[in-house]
Amino acid sequence: MTSGSQQPKRRGVALDLRGVRRSYGGAEVLRGVDLSVNAGELLAIVGQSGTGKSVLLRQIIGLERPDAGRITVGGLELPRYLAIPPEEKPFRIAMVFQNAALLASLTVAENVGLRLREHRRHRPDEIEAIIHRVLADVELEGTEAKLPSELSGGMRKRVAIARALAVDPELILYDEPTADLDPILTQQIGELIGRIRTNRGSTQIIVTHNLPLARAIADRIAVLDQGRIVECSTPAELAASRQPLTREFLRAAALGV
Ligand SMILES: Nc1ncnc2c1ncn2[C@@H]1O[C@H](COP(=O)(O)OP(=O)(O)O)[C@@H](O)[C@H]1O
Ligand SMILES: [Mg+2]
Repeated sequence: MTSGSQQPKRRGVALDLRGVRRSYGGAEVLRGVDLSVNAGELLAIVGQSGTGKSVLLRQIIGLERPDAGRITVGGLELPRYLAIPPEEKPFRIAMVFQNAALLASLTVAENVGLRLREHRRHRPDEIEAIIHRVLADVELEGTEAKLPSELSGGMRKRVAIARALAVDPELILYDEPTADLDPILTQQIGELIGRIRTNRGSTQIIVTHNLPLARAIADRIAVLDQGRIVECSTPAELAASRQPLTREFLRAAALGV
């Protein structure tokens, strides 16, 4: 870990969603999502498969536009933020996709540096230094020249996190970052996400159906059920919740379904 000590700590950006709706061909997936995330907060979003967690992240990152509702990030309306050219954006949002989404024909270094080259904010030698630093952050020093196919699943996931870190994001979204990892690797990713909070202060949102992970690392846990956030509370409050939909999710999670 070098970057944290060399960079000034910055707080992340706040995120606010009001009445966010999204349908596909008449089927309403998001039915009015209300959610506030504080600057620097680590928020987990949990919920059964198919409840719209990935759809929700796609609206926040701006890959898709909601049919209705409002998303504000860092005090800016999301459409306004998205319209700002990359090199002029006042803060950055990065997403770690579920399947890592690395380009198979590019090396680790090329994958990690991809968005940096697009942004034109840095000289080539600066990009090299950033790649080196973020690979060190995820404990993958020396893998620059490897291809994704030469790495294990856990390493690929960490490369995807390094690629997100490379743009120095104020908001990081993770879609099921530990979905296909064993318990040891899951713990490592959880610790890495915790270190990112400590060292960078970025706001982080983790979609997961791994409730123990969410409990271990999140400040608050939001439960998404049938396209709405039914509860958003601390891990301790959640465990004692009387919300019927939360209880149902906790029961299902305890059975590992
Ligand atoms: N591009 C799309 N077109 C049609 N339906 C979609 C699309 N994306 C997601 N859906 C549907 O939205 C629902 C929620 O999907 P998703 O957000 O991927 O669930 P999860 O909570 O497991 O991440 C699913 O029923 C899925 O089939
Ligand atoms: Mg999903």
